[in-house]
Amino acid sequence: MQRCINSACGATYGLRERIYVCPRCGETLEIDCGLTGRTDARALRDEWASRPTLRTHSGDPRETSGVWRYLELLPFEPDAPYVTLFEGHTPLFDAPRSAEYCGLGALRLKHQGYNPTGSFKDTGMAAAMTQAVISGAHTAVCASTGNTAASLAAYAAHAGLQAAILLPRGQVSSSKLAQSLDYGALVLEIDGNFDACMRLVQEIGDDPSIYVANSINPFRIEGQKTVAFEIMEQCNWRVPDHLVVPGGNMGNSTALGKGFQELVDLGLIDHLPKLNVMQAEGAAPLARLFTNLHLKNAADIQRIPEKLEPVANPQTLATAIKIGAPLSWKKSLRAVLRSGGRIISVSEQEIADAKATIGRDSIGCEPDSATTVAGIKKLVAAGHIGHDHEVIAVLTGHALKDPDYMIRYHEGTLSFSSGAKHGSGQPLAGAFRNSPRRVEATKAAILSSLERQR
Ligand code: F0G
Repeated sequence: MQRCINSACGATYGLRERIYVCPRCGETLEIDCGLTGRTDARALRDEWASRPTLRTHSGDPRETSGVWRYLELLPFEPDAPYVTLFEGHTPLFDAPRSAEYCGLGALRLKHQGYNPTGSFKDTGMAAAMTQAVISGAHTAVCASTGNTAASLAAYAAHAGLQAAILLPRGQVSSSKLAQSLDYGALVLEIDGNFDACMRLVQEIGDDPSIYVANSINPFRIEGQKTVAFEIMEQCNWRVPDHLVVPGGNMGNSTALGKGFQELVDLGLIDHLPKLNVMQAEGAAPLARLFTNLHLKNAADIQRIPEKLEPVANPQTLATAIKIGAPLSWKKSLRAVLRSGGRIISVSEQEIADAKATIGRDSIGCEPDSATTVAGIKKLVAAGHIGHDHEVIAVLTGHALKDPDYMIRYHEGTLSFSSGAKHGSGQPLAGAFRNSPRRVEATKAAILSSLERQR
């Protein structure tokens, strides 16, 4: 069933009802899969362990998809028309240089950029598009800073649905825009920011022909929660001390929080990892609330206000998280507080240098994902994360999602000012700058360049 998260309301609705907020009180919804008491969790864990993980076409989505692998914990019937593009099964890397940079003994990076369209959105989209097909939708719509759009475009095409995408004009990386166009989506560019696009999607979402695919859709969250299960299998069920994710519209942190909570409820783990969410300083409404209200732990959940004060004109070069009015903020904040984690913000310079450090670990990611390593460094320095703690950061997007940012950082032309685009404003020093060098086309010149580099 779908349940309103407002405990004073507590209204419940069927899974087939196509609603995104509670019709009674307007609050967001979450899905209750009715797992506790019904599921033999240990048998399930053994069942997963025996289930092959294949990237080849076995025909069984429980083997080829890292989402449908966990079908037993998802709100779908066994004979559902699963939509899948081989999502999930993403790597968990050791990142020694990033660990040292943060002041940690070790750091692991869960790279969701290894999904089919290059971002973490694909796990949620597999579930949302499956539900869209079940509900008989024709057109799936989203507002996006680029990655949701690319993911929706691909999964809708695969499911035989029309995709329509609302993008803030001029504020989306060209790689992401190119993906949406290539997958055949209808791309509508709006003069306004992501928050304006999101408001429009909520308005048109009332139309019965339209299926809203943003993370306000609780089925998206169901798909995305599976990364918690995958991480725990990869860790052999040993719970890390900290999990660190970037935060924009707050779907990802909501989903991870839900996934880990379900594992606790099922008795598969005995405590939650601390869930920490990182925002960019110029787009950090939730980090601001967290600090201003001195929020700390589960006891503070009652002090969460009704409304979040938005950032009216959010600014960051990490364009994927350039969001001032996140929709899933309340669910995310509750999950963070339940776990005893934190929500903080990091500067543009901190993001840029953390991103280059992740690159030097041979991993790479988009700028938004690098908020994690930037934030871990700050939390270690402040003593909130211990040097010997086990920490996993979730990288949400592939490095090639925003090549322009990387080139500018390494050329030394990356700059930022509130209200500015790339190329104007306050320069950001490239502490790990690595610009191309022009060299004479001779053997001697090349050897001498190598010599100088050694
Ligand atoms: N990282 C990347 C690469 C993203 O694309 C996003 C969000 C986030 C982090 C933040 O995740 O919104 O769940 O808190 N991108 C959305 C989009 C908004 O439209 O692609 P969140």
